Amino acid sequence: MKSLRALAMATLALAVVGCQQKKQEASSSGAPAASQAAAPVGDTILFGHVGSMSGNEATFGDSTDKGIKLAVDEQNKKGGIKGKQIVVKTLDDQGKPEEAAVAATRLVTQDHANILLGEVASSRSLAMAPIADSNQVPMISPTSTNPKVTKDGDKTRPYVFRVCFIDPFQGTVMAKFARENLKITDVAILRDVGNDYSVGLADFFAKKFLDLGGKIVSDQSYKAGDQDFKAQLTAIKGKNPQAIYVPGYYTDVALIARQARELGMKQPLMGGDGWDSSKLYEIAQGALDGSYFSNHYTPEDPSPVIQQFVTKYKAAYGAVPDALATLGYDAANVAIDAMQRAKDLSGPSIRDAIEQTKGYKGVSGVITLDSDHNAVKSAVVLGIQKNAAKYAATVNP
Ligand code: PHE
Repeated sequence: MKSLRALAMATLALAVVGCQQKKQEASSSGAPAASQAAAPVGDTILFGHVGSMSGNEATFGDSTDKGIKLAVDEQNKKGGIKGKQIVVKTLDDQGKPEEAAVAATRLVTQDHANILLGEVASSRSLAMAPIADSNQVPMISPTSTNPKVTKDGDKTRPYVFRVCFIDPFQGTVMAKFARENLKITDVAILRDVGNDYSVGLADFFAKKFLDLGGKIVSDQSYKAGDQDFKAQLTAIKGKNPQAIYVPGYYTDVALIARQARELGMKQPLMGGDGWDSSKLYEIAQGALDGSYFSNHYTPEDPSPVIQQFVTKYKAAYGAVPDALATLGYDAANVAIDAMQRAKDLSGPSIRDAIEQTKGYKGVSGVITLDSDHNAVKSAVVLGIQKNAAKYAATVNP
């Protein structure tokens, strides 16, 4: 009798979750952001995801959302968390920091989200972080790599965490690869000045590259959304570098590569995780062949955890998971793991449990959060050949 009633309740909860998910899918596919009411119905747990579901970085939000929902569906099938089903509500920030702040505020104050997941882009996570802290709602960024995301000046933000490495490491990875593997001495930099990630990563790369005896022969800038990069590229061409470091996001990077080739420039480009998108190759049309970027993971990794995840993800969505999908999945699972361990589901209790995350076996690596709330993990370097990314190297912290 008891178990029959439990079964009936679970079915009801699942039906509710099903409805919720349909609504959110509607909200993420064009309907005005945040217009869908998806407050937790009954006894559910709400994961609030803030992501770029539209705009120039739409694949970031879309992949992350898919990873999060896969983790949540799996957990709901296992009975949820502390007997409650999990609901995901996704708000589109259109790739704008101000919209990310609005979305985060709405999720915590109106929808009473138990946790915030997001953002991918560091500038947008930086806009959300103070909101997480002041409302005592934990936030886990899957992939924001700028060190400032989890910091408030010198102090670690109590409610802000991430499941990825940070850019002082990522910058070092490509600087070492350029100097030691590619034997490059002269590099130019082309950075997105309005993007905290791009500016930070360019600086971390430059510092290490200089330390290793390399030279930065030109340091140029652009703004996300620019269409014409020929002036900067012409200036770079005049200095004849052996490679150009472009730590930007995929839409801009692909256009930059095409325009460099139009100007007759043959140098490889180098970059970071912001290149990771299937759209990079669509837009670049081969212009990035011979180029390299650092990333969090590669679906080519033969390890069973990764291959099982790739298979599951393909079955669910018909595509190979990029790093965003994988880290979205890991971020949601770290949240789930912490909520199961938390003494109750209040913000402070969940926060304490997240902070104690140690040795969590994620798909992207083993996750232990350090005193700055960062994960210390290895990076991979991918090389682009025939308009597709191929594994080149792994770099440990
Ligand atoms: N690391 C980037 C940032 O902090 C975001 C990103 C991560 C983009 C992974 C693509 C893949 O802004």
